[in-house]
Amino acid sequence: MPRVTFLPTETETEAEEGASILDAALDADVDIDHNCGGNCACSTCHVIIEEGYDTLNPVTEDEQDMLDEAVGLTEKSRLACQCLLTKNVVVRIPDTASQFADFDDFD
Ligand code: FES
Repeated sequence: MPRVTFLPTETETEAEEGASILDAALDADVDIDHNCGGNCACSTCHVIIEEGYDTLNPVTEDEQDMLDEAVGLTEKSRLACQCLLTKNVVVRIPDTASQFADFDDFD
């Protein structure tokens, strides 16, 4: 079973192969926002894959469109509800609260 490590809390969990990172997070009581319910219609489940990015299914055009709306986008960004586990991964949950606080600095 793939192991998922969530940062910054360093919470580790195992998930069924083919489960999404969002499913793994929810099963482990790891808090990832998922406003659209995992339907690739928001960007609130944005995560950064620190290890194992290449083991995940490729980004679809729909996912990329939503990712483009994410705050703090990186080259290793994914939507947690859209990437399916096959191997161990390390996933960072962005601190959106502090990112929004940064935006306040531009007022
Ligand atoms: S929960 Fe909305 S895109 Fe993942």
